[in-house]
Order: sequence, then structure tokens, then C-alpha cells
Amino acid sequence: METLLVEKNGPISTIWLNRPDVRNAFNENVIEELTHIFSSLPEDPDTRVVILAGKGKVFSAGADLNWMRSMVNADQATNYQDSRKLADLLELIRTCPQVTVARVQGAALGGGMGLASVCDIVVAEEQAKFGFTEVKLGLIPAVISSFVIAKVGASWARRYFVTGELFTGSRAQQMGLVHELVTTEHLDETVQTMANNALLGGPSAIAESKKLLERVTATAPGDLLKDTAEWIAKIRISEEGQEGTAAFLEKRQAKWNPPS
Ligand code: COA
Repeated sequence: METLLVEKNGPISTIWLNRPDVRNAFNENVIEELTHIFSSLPEDPDTRVVILAGKGKVFSAGADLNWMRSMVNADQATNYQDSRKLADLLELIRTCPQVTVARVQGAALGGGMGLASVCDIVVAEEQAKFGFTEVKLGLIPAVISSFVIAKVGASWARRYFVTGELFTGSRAQQMGLVHELVTTEHLDETVQTMANNALLGGPSAIAESKKLLERVTATAPGDLLKDTAEWIAKIRISEEGQEGTAAFLEKRQAKWNPPS
């Protein structure tokens, strides 16, 4: 890997964006390497939590503007294929069966917001800055828009997409993008706590919950009565459902729990 560092600690993998000199801006190589890793995760039962992080001062400054500029002479079809790779990557991360945690320090801007918004849990340091700065560069937050709006809603997106202004971690938390806002010294410890918490759930139950969220958030509650009842009917007789309930009733750890 040229642009990423991967650290494995048992069932927890940390993927570091590793271009600190350009504040972890991402170009086609970063997208390709992330795509390679996230494509393999559905077939990787040993990994249960994925932490997405950035080396250096900043989580991610979004799209690499040198890369974007270099596409000026490419035709529309090539520009489309190039942009589509980021869209496909964000969808891959969003639908990853493992629990994903974004660790945000310094800033998350533009596409960096896209990366954070497709993670299940976002932990940020208090002084981190956030923004959809695209309009200030004469661009638009196109590829990330659907992912961001699904996370924070159209109202906040509307405000910040049109102004491109930077905003604070507490505003990002108010929007629902950031879940835990902590001092710098507590950043790693909080990320670790989130990861450890995620190890207490049954891996299949977590993957199914993520699919359930997908189904439920796209449809009105009244249209889901049959589906959700069928879903739990299937899960409660599954091996994991039986093991988890038995473990609780027998006052023991479920077999997927890390040894204490
Ligand atoms: N693409 C390419 N290079 C970038 C970049 C990006 N998105 N963001 C930062 N860089 C580069 C800078 O050009 C600079 O390069 P240099 O050392 O050759 O001059 C280097 O990273 C450091 O940037 P700098 O602005 O000095 O760092 P900082 O720590 O003071 O500020 C940011 C960090 C992220 C706040 C600031 O770099 C920034 O606002 N970047 C633009 C982010 C943006 O608008 N992204 C949206 C893209 S659609």
C-alpha cells in the first residue's frame, strides 16, 4: 500500500490515510487502495471493527485538488468514471458489514466529510474543523451529497453546502455527524472504547442491523410491519440469536465476546 497504513489488532483493523503532507487529501491511488481493502471485508470474518483514521494533523482535506485539476483535459466520460470510483467507494464503506469508526482530528473537509459520514460512529477531537468547502473552490459536493444528506438531513446540508463555511465539532455533533466529541488526549481512548463496545455484539447481528437500518430508513414505518416482523422471526432462531439469548439467561459470555 502506497497511500495507506493498515494496523491489525486482533479483530480491530485501523486503516490510516497516510498522506500527511497533503493533509490526507485523496487521489485515485487512495481511492483504489481503500476500495481494495473495503471490497475484501465482507469475506473477512476475522475483522469485526474498522477504524478509519488519518496520519498527521488532519483526518482528511477531501479530494486532492492537484488530482482534480489534472483531469481538466480528460473527456466527460473519463471524468465520470473517475468520479464514480469515489461514489462506489463511499457506498462500499457505508454498506460494510463490520462496524466502522471514523477518528477525526484537525479537520474533515469536502470529501473528508463524505468519508466520515459513511462510517457508523464518528469520534472527533473538540478543535476539529468541518466544512463542505467545495463552493469556495468553484466546485460542488456532488458525490458526497447523498451520503451526507442521509446522515445529517437536508436542512443542515443546505445551509453548509451553499456557504462552504467552516464549522465546529459541536455543530457537527448537533447535526448528527459526530457522535462523540472529546479532547485530543481522549481521542484514541474513546475510539478504542467504541471499538471494544462493538465487539460485544454478535457479528452477524451487527451486519443484519446495518441492513435493517438501510431498509427501514428508506421506507415509511407502516410499510415495514411485515418485513421487520419477518426479519426478527428469522434472526431469533438463528445460531447467533440462540447463543446470545442463552448466554444472557445462563449468565455467561456469548461465544463471540473477547476473552475477559
Ligand atoms: N488537495 C491537495 N493538496 C492539499 C489539500 C487538498 N485538498 N489540502 C491541503 N493540501 C496541501 C496544501 O496545498 C499544502 O501543500 P504545500 O505544503 O505543498 O504548500 C499542504 O497540503 C498543507 O496544507 P496547509 O493548508 O498548509 O495545512 P494546514 O494544516 O494549515 O491546513 C487544511 C489544513 C486542511 C485546513 C487546509 O489545507 C485546507 O483548507 N485545505 C483545503 C481543503 C478543502 O477545501 N477541501 C475540499 C476539496 S473538494
